[in-house]
Amino acid sequence: MSSSMAFPPLILLLILLSPSPSLSSDPDPLQDFGIADLQSASSINGFPCKAAPNVTSEDFFFSGLARGGNTNNTFGSSVVQGNVLSFPGLNTLGISMNRVDIAPGGINPPHLHPRATESGVVVRGKLLVGMITSGNVFYSKNLTEGEMFVIPRGLVHFQMNVGNESALILTAFNSHLPGAVVIPFTLFGSRPSVPDEVLTKAFQVDKSVVDGIKSNFGG
Ligand code: GLV
Ligand code: MN
Repeated sequence: MSSSMAFPPLILLLILLSPSPSLSSDPDPLQDFGIADLQSASSINGFPCKAAPNVTSEDFFFSGLARGGNTNNTFGSSVVQGNVLSFPGLNTLGISMNRVDIAPGGINPPHLHPRATESGVVVRGKLLVGMITSGNVFYSKNLTEGEMFVIPRGLVHFQMNVGNESALILTAFNSHLPGAVVIPFTLFGSRPSVPDEVLTKAFQVDKSVVDGIKSNFGG
C-alpha cells in the first residue's frame, strides 16, 4: 500500500498542523547558553545572544530575589521577577522564578501567565492559594511554610496572606518570560481604556460602577 493511501492527504495535513506536545513550553535551547543581549537592535523569538568571549561568571548569577519589593500598596503585595529581562542568563533556557512578598491581609491579585505553568513553595507565612479553571471550577487551599502548589499554564490564580506575619513565596515557571496578565489592570487600567459599554455589558453593571473601578486602576 502506498503511503498516500495509508495517510489520506486530509489526515496528513491535520497531523502536520496539529501542535506538538513538545511545544507546550519554551523550545529547547540549541546551545549550552545564550546570554541575552537586551540592547540588540535585531528582534527574534527570544533574544540574540551575547558574543561568547564577552560572557562572564556574573551572567549566570542573579541577586535580584534576595530582597522583597515594597508591599505598602493597595494590594499589600510585591512581585520581584527573575525572568530573562532582569536576568539575561535565562535566555532560551525555558525557566524563570519570582519572589512574592505579601503583607498580612494582602493579596497577589488574580492573574494568569500566558506562556508558563507556575509552581511555588511557601517560604514563610500562611496563604490561601486559589485558581479557577476554564470550566469555572474554583480550587484552593491554605498553605504554610514548605508547602508547594502548581498552577497550570493560563489559569487565573491568586495568593492571599491569611496569617498574621508577612508571607514569602518563591515561584518557578517553565518559560524564560512567562508574562503576567493581571485581571484588574487588564480590564480596568489598560491604555487606551476598554470602552465603558463593553465593561458595563460584560459585568452587567452601571457605568458608575465601571468608572469607580477604573479610577482605582488608572483606566
Ligand atoms: C505568583 O503567582 C507569581 O506569579 O509569582
Ligand atoms: Mn502567578
